Amino acid sequence: MTAPHIPVLLDEAIAALAVVPGALIVDATFGAGGYTRRLLEAGATVHAFDRDPDAIDAARRNPGIWPETGENPPRLVLHPRRFSEMVAALADMGIVRVDGIVMDIGVSSMQLDQPERGFAFASDGPLDMRMAQDGPTAADFVNEAAESDIADVLFRYGEERQSRRVARHIVAARPLTTTGALAGVIRKALGHRPGAPKDPATRSFQAIRIHVNAELEELEQALAAAELLLRSGGRLAAVSFHSLEDRIVKQFLREASGASAATASRHLPEMPREEPVTFAAVSRAIRPSEAEIARNPRSRSATLRFATRTDAPSRRRLAA
Ligand SMILES: C[S@@+](CC[C@H](N)C(=O)[O-])C[C@H]1O[C@@H](n2cnc3c(N)ncnc32)[C@H](O)[C@@H]1O
Repeated sequence: MTAPHIPVLLDEAIAALAVVPGALIVDATFGAGGYTRRLLEAGATVHAFDRDPDAIDAARRNPGIWPETGENPPRLVLHPRRFSEMVAALADMGIVRVDGIVMDIGVSSMQLDQPERGFAFASDGPLDMRMAQDGPTAADFVNEAAESDIADVLFRYGEERQSRRVARHIVAARPLTTTGALAGVIRKALGHRPGAPKDPATRSFQAIRIHVNAELEELEQALAAAELLLRSGGRLAAVSFHSLEDRIVKQFLREASGASAATASRHLPEMPREEPVTFAAVSRAIRPSEAEIARNPRSRSATLRFATRTDAPSRRRLAA
């Protein structure tokens, strides 16, 4: 039995949504349901998504813990799907507008702490890393991709400065089938001082996980979906766990709120803005308190940003 997931920035994320009883809220990343629980307590109806079938099954197996799934109509609807599909999933149920959307991007403690899911380098398990438990695994990628593609992934998604060196060692050590073997190869490539504060495999594991799950593309699509689905005055709250994700959220909100156009250049004549301003009241970056980090060290790299949807039309349509 693994330790349950401790929700990160919970009070802040829920406050950002300004939930009133009867509100319709999407929890894009159900996980262990920490956010959903609070939303239900505030009187919301929640449509919760998770691409990991284990997360949804755990809730379905426990109707005693989630009685709202059995209410008529249900106040909790579980969707075992990717959050990039939320527009279509909700449309199937006749829902085209919602009052709030929260996303708590990344992996859950349940995923990280189960060696058989293959996310962790601290314990040995099959080289898997798939949140949705389907499609190509991390092993498929490291064993089949070209060395240059592996290097690109490590550089782009792990900001690994020695990406070429690591990729060369990975290719030389193929086939790799376990997390322990991959971590060993990376440590050997980069030189690992036992007791060093950060394991050198951290960056590469993050990179491969992001690639296997197309995490950044998913995030971009979820933000676009939020723009389509939120009613005027509706709230978006996004918690991210590393700088690549936070950059995407920050850039999206800058563009959506017109901030990037206003600051584009002081030296060029002002251009009329072509795109509507779809979000306003964009928050600053909110980070966990010292007390939260002490209580839950996994929260230390989290960042929350939130904003309010305006009444302007959405800037883009989602690809069908
Ligand atoms: C950090 S956990 C969320 C924890 C949750 N807020 C809680 O309090 O228990 C992230 C969850 O999002 C899910 N997830 C990540 N990417 C997803 C995507 N593209 N679509 C749907 N779920 C996703 C993961 O499977 C994981 O269960």
